[in-house]
Amino acid sequence: MANDIILTGDRPTGRLHLGHYVGSLKRRVELQESGEYDQINILIADDQALTDNADNPGKIRDNIINVVLDYLSAGIDPEKTTICVQSALPALHALTFYYLNLVTTARLSRNPTVKSEIQMRGFANEGLPTGFFTYPVSQAADITAFNATVVPVGEDQLPMIEQTREIVEKFNKTYGETLVLPKAVIPENEIQRRLPGVDGKAKMSKSLGNCIYLSDTPKTVKKQVNGKMFTDSTHLRIEDPGHTEGNVVFAYLDAFCRDDYFAEYLPDYANLEEMKEHYRRGGLGDGTCKKFLINVLEETLRPIRAERAKWEADIASVYDILLEGTSKAKEITNETLGRVRKAMRIDYFEDRSIIGEWEKLLKEAKQ
Ligand code: TRP
Repeated sequence: MANDIILTGDRPTGRLHLGHYVGSLKRRVELQESGEYDQINILIADDQALTDNADNPGKIRDNIINVVLDYLSAGIDPEKTTICVQSALPALHALTFYYLNLVTTARLSRNPTVKSEIQMRGFANEGLPTGFFTYPVSQAADITAFNATVVPVGEDQLPMIEQTREIVEKFNKTYGETLVLPKAVIPENEIQRRLPGVDGKAKMSKSLGNCIYLSDTPKTVKKQVNGKMFTDSTHLRIEDPGHTEGNVVFAYLDAFCRDDYFAEYLPDYANLEEMKEHYRRGGLGDGTCKKFLINVLEETLRPIRAERAKWEADIASVYDILLEGTSKAKEITNETLGRVRKAMRIDYFEDRSIIGEWEKLLKEAKQ
């Protein structure tokens, strides 16, 4: 895909967990390493995070560093990917302000993701912050400011990309071809779309305490697996036949296991299919499965943890990476804002020929 530009982003409201890893981070690293993209940008959407955390900016401030550390330790390479901070990009604010005029409140009210988030956050009763209500428009500003053609996101973000495409079309129709039409790219398979929490619940979520974080210690990982994973309620004795479908241990193995791990950690089987067959037949205990899973998870987490430790020892460098990424992003987004203002003919101070235009206008009015 020549000439493609990627923008993706996260709200910095917490550390990233294994759900983020299989759902987006791993993919971003693959896209980064594919060499197929002209430009890859990751936006730390701190302004968007404020739309439902206005009372707690400290939480956002703290989690910016957590999220960057998670990126860097999972393999995002600042030489290849621009990491930037939303609030330091004033062009995004200006674009949002112009785009707001192109979207009706009725259209925003229909956005299914915003609708369900309003319910989840209790805004339906307490009152809905305007900033939160309009964040899809600010996200359209993010995407278009970077001229993104490809936006890798979770499925829940599809309505945002749809809304962005509508804004692009409306803008281009009203003011002339200016903005690039983006498309969403979502995870390929079910397990990437939704890694269950360790308790088997639909999704990992901080409030449910069912996450394994990329920065968790081996001890915590072990505790989450051994203490919180229910396997199969019909598999009481080792000899009983078991179910692998709907079994959270096997869901995680589906997501993280590789054939070559068996030789080292569970040499009775050559691959996950053989292991599953034995479990279904009966004779394979949950303890063995969990112990294997812990080893498998550690294969993923160990290198991430080691990288994290290196970066944590040098926060000044992490700061400089953010600063550099943000100044690169400032150039890109300012350039887009310039084009937008020009298309809207509100670029008054870019072009002095308006003086002549105004003089002519006044002369004609007198005739
Ligand atoms: N709304 C996204 C989320 O909650 C974060 C985000 C903000 C984003 N701006 C973006 C994602 C631009 C992709 C592109 O996950």
